Amino acid sequence: MDKVKAMILLLSCISLLSVCVNGIGANWGTQTSHPLPPDTVVQMLKENGFSKVKLFDAEDGTMNALKKSGFEVMVGLPNDMLRTLATSVKAAENWVSKNVSAYVNDGVNIRYVAVGNEPFLETYNGSFLQTTFPALQNVQGALIKAGLSNQVKVTIPLNADVYQSSTGKPSDGDFRTDIHDLMVAIVKFLSDNSAAFTVNIYPFISLYSDSNFPVEYAFFDGNASPVVDGSNTYTNMFDANLDTLIWALKKNGYGNLPIIVGEIGWPTDGDMNANTQYAQRFNQGFMTHTSTGRGTPMRPGPIDAYLFSLIDEDEKSIQPGNFERHWGIFTYDGLPKYQLNLGIGNSSRGLGKARGVQYLDKKWCVLKPNIPLSDSRLADTISYACSNADCTSLGYKTSCGNLDTRGNISYAFDNYFQKNDQDDVACDFSGLATTTNMDPSTGTCRFGIMIMVDDASSFKLPQFGLLIFIFLLHLLLTTL
Ligand SMILES: *[C@@H]1O[C@H](CO)[C@@H](O)[C@H](O)[C@H]1NC(C)=O
Ligand SMILES: *[C@@H]1O[C@H](CO)[C@@H](O)[C@H](O)[C@H]1NC(C)=O
Ligand SMILES: *[C@@H]1O[C@H](CO)[C@@H](O)[C@H](O)[C@H]1NC(C)=O
Ligand SMILES: *[C@@H]1O[C@H](CO)[C@@H](O)[C@H](O)[C@H]1NC(C)=O
Repeated sequence: MDKVKAMILLLSCISLLSVCVNGIGANWGTQTSHPLPPDTVVQMLKENGFSKVKLFDAEDGTMNALKKSGFEVMVGLPNDMLRTLATSVKAAENWVSKNVSAYVNDGVNIRYVAVGNEPFLETYNGSFLQTTFPALQNVQGALIKAGLSNQVKVTIPLNADVYQSSTGKPSDGDFRTDIHDLMVAIVKFLSDNSAAFTVNIYPFISLYSDSNFPVEYAFFDGNASPVVDGSNTYTNMFDANLDTLIWALKKNGYGNLPIIVGEIGWPTDGDMNANTQYAQRFNQGFMTHTSTGRGTPMRPGPIDAYLFSLIDEDEKSIQPGNFERHWGIFTYDGLPKYQLNLGIGNSSRGLGKARGVQYLDKKWCVLKPNIPLSDSRLADTISYACSNADCTSLGYKTSCGNLDTRGNISYAFDNYFQKNDQDDVACDFSGLATTTNMDPSTGTCRFGIMIMVDDASSFKLPQFGLLIFIFLLHLLLTTL
């Protein structure tokens, strides 16, 4: 059986050499109220032919599931730890010891440490400008001390606005003026330590934040009016953006520094341009583009990249926009949202869903049919539901944007109910709501049933506590 699998893999590698050499990675974030069990996720990643994962922390459950999985792992060091690790060599050594060495010894194939996540975003107001580079240096020092610096490399996932081009032409690319010297120092350090530059590239955000952005330029179909830069011609933003970085590196003396695309993807909901059609078109376009192994005009060859992201996360901040909770190529319960051929393994038949997912009952919470829309209590209950659950699928041109007002209210109630594990108390809303066995889903609007979470203790502890209480009460009464 395994021999057959290996043979199939080998054959598909021969036909798609560049893909198998590099493989495609996935960003696995966990800002979710109901995470799929890590083992289920690892199995899903395997069956869909991923070979690398990028994490945003080093959470124990995730790391344990990756033991002996063969996946290349990029562990993350969150921004809120940068200050501590910047100021204390000891803290960096402890971090590496606990979050790298221990897992490497247990068979987790850690290859990178991501120091911070987009720490130089302009919205952070420079909060991490002083601490990121010292933290990077301390982590590198700790890796050397732990004897891991050959196999584990440091990097900083940076947003693409750390570089820019005043004319829009890639050849005019350079680092942002306010952080230019810092960037050059970091780039030199990465180069000195045989590490890579990691950048997150988002044509979707360009389209979202600039209504004049040419839509076709976000995609890979070659339909955009080209940007001509000397002898190079660009018809997609990704190539132009990556080459702007390459020019910036080149201009400062590091034109050959390896580059990792840390995040690339497209959300499916929460905005008029976030839908499954566009997401499919973008991600499939990207996969096809990179699987040719042609690279960009400035850097021919395979591209090392991690799709953003694997699974939707219902607890991400929506400060950047309502689309934030919808980046997954899989839904919260591990269903593929659209066909995506990764060019590897089984995926030519489309993505496979997570297996063995355990759902709660087929039950929903809706607005009682006899409640008139004029009921004065509605406004407060809706805003309560939406602020504690997730209403980002309601709104102009979103997946549930076509619901009528009653449907809208039911969606908010139900989302809150599901998020609270279908607790009856969570379907009251001052008596305005009721549960039903009829699925209210329509067309693109899914009223999903919540999944069971692994963490049984959170459910059993109260019952256990109650038992102890009854036992003590019994003891008290019988001794009196
Ligand atoms: C490919 O799909 C088949 C049938 O769905 C499944 O049994 C098999 O495990 C998959 N292969 C891999 C490598 O996941
Ligand atoms: C290891 O990583 C975890 C998860 O990111 C973090 O909570 C913990 O503080 C880290 N351990 C040390 C010793 O820094
Ligand atoms: C950055 O500054 C703006 C305006 O002063 C403020 O609204 C925002 O909360 C700040 N963000 C952070 C991360 O400090
Ligand atoms: C449904 O709710 C959304 C978000 O609160 C709102 O933008 C939209 O106008 C509502 N639609 C109807 C028909 O009430």
